[in-house]
Amino acid sequence: MHSTVFVTRKIPQEGIDILTRHGFQVDVNPRNRGLTKTELTVSVAERDGVLCQFTDKLDEDVLQAASKALVFSNCAVGFNNVDVACATRLGILVTNTPGVLTDTTADLAWALLFALARRIPECDRFTRAGKFKTWSPMFFLGSDITGKTLGIVGAGRIGTAVAMRSAAFRMRLVYCDGIPNSTLEKELGARRAGLEELLTESDFVSLHVPLLPETRHLVGEREFGLMKKTAFLINTSRGPVVDEKALVRALQKRTIAGAGLDVYENEPKVEPGLMKLDNAVIVPHIGSATMETRVKMAVMAAENLAAALRGERPAHLVNAEVWNSPARRKNG
Ligand code: GLV
Repeated sequence: MHSTVFVTRKIPQEGIDILTRHGFQVDVNPRNRGLTKTELTVSVAERDGVLCQFTDKLDEDVLQAASKALVFSNCAVGFNNVDVACATRLGILVTNTPGVLTDTTADLAWALLFALARRIPECDRFTRAGKFKTWSPMFFLGSDITGKTLGIVGAGRIGTAVAMRSAAFRMRLVYCDGIPNSTLEKELGARRAGLEELLTESDFVSLHVPLLPETRHLVGEREFGLMKKTAFLINTSRGPVVDEKALVRALQKRTIAGAGLDVYENEPKVEPGLMKLDNAVIVPHIGSATMETRVKMAVMAAENLAAALRGERPAHLVNAEVWNSPARRKNG
């Protein structure tokens, strides 16, 4: 019997090819949208493996419905969409795609930083509207980047890659993380600080923490109050790390100078107030969205899934404790 795989969204063909080469029977969600909970529940039933996205909420009900599944392979580095504790209890492997999207996401954080500091989207709107009638020495004055202080909240893979890029701009670097990062300290002279100190000192604050109960609303009204009035916030991590309503207020009152956001508290919904603000640059969760990276993610997710279905240990296991557990589901 061929193993059966369900792919919750269309992904680059390179990923599908790996699955079919292994002889799996592969079904891909034909719709150009994510599945509802009911659709997802029906689709995962009777499948041996599921290749999913961070937009699929894999809660207890969905995991229970996947009564035959050995593995859920998340095609993302973040896995806050999966009830990992429940998957572990059920003996289901959960995998993710770390590393391959690090540089691409770091590039986007910098794109947002530049867009904010030099007011690029605002200038673009102005020019397109035919308003560029005369040059003026005082219009669209932005903020310098070179020589300023960059605060990195969460100095893991992506935070480190964002920090590394700051060397080109001779920036002072402060970071906040539970674990010291010797690469940043030795190579860039970065200083480890507490969150409050980082917020007080930084001209640009970039968030790179995973979404956990302790990072939900890590940055809210009190934290905006600590930041410089001239400072910018960049969030390419997860929306709920920032209290979005408090952010809108801070941007409206100019408590901070601006925010560049790739992620939102209630994605795909965006706080309506944000849409009206020129000091917010908002893009639709495109951190890893390059052709090259999405192919690498699809390949990695497919390889993780294929390994699990072949009884081999996947390279990027989120719940490694399942591997040696007697509860682990096995093929056949
Ligand atoms: C995207 O947000 C990811 O976690 O890969």
